[in-house]
Amino acid sequence: MSEKDYSKYFKTPSVKKARMRTFTEADIEHYAVPTHLKGIASGKYYKIQTYGCQANEADSENIKGILEALGFSETKDEAKADFILLNTCAIRENAENRVFGELGRLKKYKRHNPDLLLGISGCMPQEEKVVNKLLKSYPYVDLVFGTHNIDKLATYIETALFNKERVVEVFSEEGKVVENLPRKRNHQTKAWVNIMYGCDEFCTYCIVPYTRGTERSRAPEAIIEEVKTLKEEGYKEVTLLGQNVNAYGRDFKKNPYSFANLLEALAKTKIPRIRFQTSHPNDFDEASVKMIGTYDNIMPHIHLPVQSGSNDILKRMNRKYSRDRIFELVNQMRKYIPGVSITTDLIVGFPGESEDAFEETLDMVKKTGFEGAFTFVFSAREGTPAASYEDPTLQSEKSERLKRLNTIINEGYKNGHKRFEGSTVNVLIEGESKNNPEVLAGYSEHYKVVNVRADKALIGTIIPVKITNAKTWFLEGECVENT
Ligand code: SAH
Ligand code: SF4
Ligand code: F3S
Repeated sequence: MSEKDYSKYFKTPSVKKARMRTFTEADIEHYAVPTHLKGIASGKYYKIQTYGCQANEADSENIKGILEALGFSETKDEAKADFILLNTCAIRENAENRVFGELGRLKKYKRHNPDLLLGISGCMPQEEKVVNKLLKSYPYVDLVFGTHNIDKLATYIETALFNKERVVEVFSEEGKVVENLPRKRNHQTKAWVNIMYGCDEFCTYCIVPYTRGTERSRAPEAIIEEVKTLKEEGYKEVTLLGQNVNAYGRDFKKNPYSFANLLEALAKTKIPRIRFQTSHPNDFDEASVKMIGTYDNIMPHIHLPVQSGSNDILKRMNRKYSRDRIFELVNQMRKYIPGVSITTDLIVGFPGESEDAFEETLDMVKKTGFEGAFTFVFSAREGTPAASYEDPTLQSEKSERLKRLNTIINEGYKNGHKRFEGSTVNVLIEGESKNNPEVLAGYSEHYKVVNVRADKALIGTIIPVKITNAKTWFLEGECVENT
């Protein structure tokens, strides 16, 4: 018997469509909560679990904003919730397995409360195989939507929660830019600011260009306005978000405008701290490096995922740069941004990675002096080119390589902390330390965690801290009297 064709009943994703690019400028839409739906869910509760990267964190803030406009309140208590949503990540297989495990666990709440609405959103539903599995094996999931249609959530809630119909709607077509979505931010001192959506890099291992669609930059005016408002509201830090922020503006056809231009305009708003994530070595231009060095409110920390130190592997990853380019860029950063802290992402065990190629990565890491890294074992993602590359290396060998790499990376963390011993750094105090409520914790300009004993009234402010002790994972310091 053939598989049931669900596309007749629902709008399901297509990898083929998700791969298409026309390279036109994105349409901009302005969102408004449908008037007849405002407040319809008052007295009801929602719970969101967010997985994955900051793009998902930011989306969850918009989802919360929409839900609260409908009248929902947030709860952490699953038993109390009328709507539980998993906002998911598809980057590696274990990320997906965790979500399927969660769906299994949450089934019991549906049994206790048949009116409970269970939903799944984010990057996983953008994959055909995931939606097919949900439709076949998880009939109790009532609401499935993707990354391109968060703006339709209010209507979905109306259909699923009030009309009791299952909603499965995922778009794979090229996306648009939606402005004015309501937003409930998670922090009071630091804010995510999307500057662009999607990715056109198509690194051969990566699912993101399929789950997030084509690159779409927000208009500079909209971003500048958002940052000005955040500053007026008392926010101390913004983190500019994009899968490849260095490609910002590449999709503008009429008015050329680059990431360096944007950095300068935002620095001039005088918001105390600007960070950005993530950078791509191929697109990081000298103008941006210089701009970071020019303005004190652009933080001297750059997360620069390089993935590998082997030319052969970089080529097969479609990263479009060489090992030499990594050194060139790192040197440029050190020249124009004195004291800069650089961190990275690395993948070990990419299909066909030889012991020699892996050692080139180790060697590159030692020479560049990265002060931290997220390190991953390659995970094959269906529909991406690398998933069908020959991969003779044993998983046990890959795990061994990951351990060897992490030993060197941990040295980097330690050295990156050690260099601040005895000096005074500015720390944005975020709250109590996770392990000790007597101690406050925050981030330095170089993005180092700093623990300090200080008055709780200082939470949300930037204070000078003298570093007394450097550990592998954080710094300890004491308050410096303001003169
Ligand atoms: N756009 C960002 C982040 C992408 S996802 C960037 O380009 O850096 C974050 C990290 O996950 C990547 O940098 C990469 O190191 C890792 N990653 C992505 N796909 C992966 C896969 N299939 N297997 C293992 N790690 C992967
Ligand atoms: Fe994935 Fe590469 Fe795009 Fe990053 S730049 S999101 S790794 S395709
Ligand atoms: Fe995951 Fe999607 Fe981000 S796959 S890493 S949540 S863009």
